[in-house]
Amino acid sequence: MSASTVLERTAPLYQRVKSVIPPIEWPVFADDVEAILELKKTRNAVILAHNYMTPEIFHCVADIVGDSLALAREAMKVDAEVIVLAGVHFMAETAKMLNPSKKVLIPDLEAGCSLAASITAADVRLMREKFPGRPVVTYVNSSAAVKAESDICCTSGNAKKIVESLGVPEVIMLPDEYLAQNIAAQTKVKVIAWAGHCEVHERFTPAEVRALRTDHPGVIILAHPECPPDVIAEADYTGSTADMSNYVGREKPARVVLLTECSMADNVSVNHPDVNFVKPCNLCPHMKRITLPKIRRALETMTHEVTIPAELMDPARRSVERMLAAS
Ligand code: 13P
Ligand code: SF4
Repeated sequence: MSASTVLERTAPLYQRVKSVIPPIEWPVFADDVEAILELKKTRNAVILAHNYMTPEIFHCVADIVGDSLALAREAMKVDAEVIVLAGVHFMAETAKMLNPSKKVLIPDLEAGCSLAASITAADVRLMREKFPGRPVVTYVNSSAAVKAESDICCTSGNAKKIVESLGVPEVIMLPDEYLAQNIAAQTKVKVIAWAGHCEVHERFTPAEVRALRTDHPGVIILAHPECPPDVIAEADYTGSTADMSNYVGREKPARVVLLTECSMADNVSVNHPDVNFVKPCNLCPHMKRITLPKIRRALETMTHEVTIPAELMDPARRSVERMLAAS
C-alpha cells in the first residue's frame, strides 16, 4: 500500500490524537497502525493496553484500555484467540492466569517493573515465618511466583477494600511500601510492609507539589498511591490510573496535574480538550519498551508468548480470583 493511501486510511485515527501528536510525527506511526489493524483481524487478536501506553497505541490500535484491575477483568472475557498485552510483564501473566486457553503475547519480554523485581517467592515465605498468622495481600505488580505464595491480590484501585475484606486486625502487604503506608493511613487494619518501590512514583517530592501550586494557582493535583506518603499528603486526590482519569471526567477541573507516568496525561487530555493539563511526569522505562513496531512484530511472529509454570498457575490464579471476587 502506498504511503499516501496509508495516510488517507489512518486519517480518522489521527484526528483522535492530533492534540498530542504533531502532524509531522504521524507518518512515522501510520504504517504500523495500519499493519496492526490488519494483523489483529488475520490473527484473531485483541490488544489490551495499560493507561501508560503512548497515545498512538492507547487511542489508535488498542481494543481495551484501563488500569491493572480493568485489564485483569477484561482479560477474562476475551473471546479472540490471541491477547497482546501492551503493558508490563506482570500484566501479561495476570491475563494468562485468568484466560489460560488464550495465547498471550507481550511485545517486549524485558518490560518489567521495579516493584515486581523487588521481591521473590522465598521472601514471601520468610515474611510468613516472621509474622505468622497474618494474611499476605500482594499487589498485582508482582510475579506469578510471588502471587502463588500469597493469600489474595490487590490493585491500586481496590487495595483498601481488599485489606478490609479479610476481617483481620493485621495484614502483610507486599511489595509496595508506599502503597501499604498510604492504605494504612485510611484504615484501622495494621499493615506490615515490604520495602519495594515504584521507580517512577518514588521520584515525586512534596517540594515539587508545592512548587506546582505556586506556579499554577488553583491547580488540582491527583496522585497515584505508589507515590510516597508525604507526596500523597500534599495532593488533592489519590487513586489508581483509572480513578484519576474518572476524576477528570467527573469533576472537570480547569487545570490539573497527574502525579504519575508521562503518557497518562496525554491519553486523558485527548478525551478532555477543555481541561488544561500541567504535565510534570516521570517516564516508566518498562512501559516505554512497548512500541508500535514491537506490537506489529509480536503479531507478525506471534512472539513473545507468556507462559506460567504449571505448578504456579492454580495458586497464583487463586490469589487474583479472590481479589476479583472481593472487589
Ligand atoms: P494502575 O493499576 O493504577 O493502573 O497502576 C499500575 C501501575 O503500574 C502503576 O504504576
Ligand atoms: Fe512498575 Fe512503576 Fe513502571 Fe508501574 S510505573 S510498571 S509500578 S515501575
